Amino acid sequence: MKNVYGDFSKYYDMLGWNLFAGLCAERLKAFFKLRGEKPETVLNLACGTGELEKLLGDKEIKFTGVDASPGMLREARKKCPGARFVKADAAEVRLDNKFDMVLFLFDSANHMCSLSHLNRVFKNARRHLKKGGYFIFDINTPRGLKDWENTQVRHAENYTVITSGVYDEDEMTAEVILEAFIKEGRYYKKTVQLLTEKTYDTSEIIERLAKAGLDKIIVTSFDPSEEIEDAGRLWFVCS
Ligand SMILES: C[S@@+](CC[C@H](N)C(=O)[O-])C[C@H]1O[C@@H](n2cnc3c(N)ncnc32)[C@H](O)[C@@H]1O
Repeated sequence: MKNVYGDFSKYYDMLGWNLFAGLCAERLKAFFKLRGEKPETVLNLACGTGELEKLLGDKEIKFTGVDASPGMLREARKKCPGARFVKADAAEVRLDNKFDMVLFLFDSANHMCSLSHLNRVFKNARRHLKKGGYFIFDINTPRGLKDWENTQVRHAENYTVITSGVYDEDEMTAEVILEAFIKEGRYYKKTVQLLTEKTYDTSEIIERLAKAGLDKIIVTSFDPSEEIEDAGRLWFVCS
């Protein structure tokens, strides 16, 4: 089981990577409104620092978060003491209960670097879903991961982050080197991490979902201004 963010779990929120959970929370709230009800229980696979639990967790929704990274879970437990967090691989975790909704958000599907690993997550999501429940996830498309092919430098008062990415079209895989210089007292601490994300053909994803028993599938572009064929990120709602 890989700890893909390494020491970056400590800096994840500070670097603003938790902000995407805010967009997901808005989408999910709109979905709850459309359906006329909130889920009572949610399993958040690859939950990261628990930002979504913080944003959506109220007394009505009971969250269980699963993540492979002890550092991410440390942050999540501090942020959401009322939620349950479990350290496990999203493909392998086995919980005693079933849930109204299973989530797998913000590039988590892209962190599954083989189709068989992604497939096992789909089967596991299905295994933990109550009848009539929903499995919701997003994924960067080849176009989305191609956008990683650049070098960016971001400065803030307490840090500088340099990201240098490449995309391999044949392997449908992006690699990015994250280098952060974080101010600690009078000095800057350097932290480096190589991050890999892979993507898959949409038809292949749909086929695997259907085989996992998730055959009612709605796919939309995450960004409503993009046509689905050109989308950088797709949003899947399955049941
Ligand atoms: C980009 S973060 C997204 C976190 C969170 N879902 C969010 O929306 O902010 C991806 C997360 O996937 C976790 N992860 C990667 N591979 C995993 C695996 N096989 N099983 C469980 N978690 C995994 C990482 O530790 C990280 O917390």
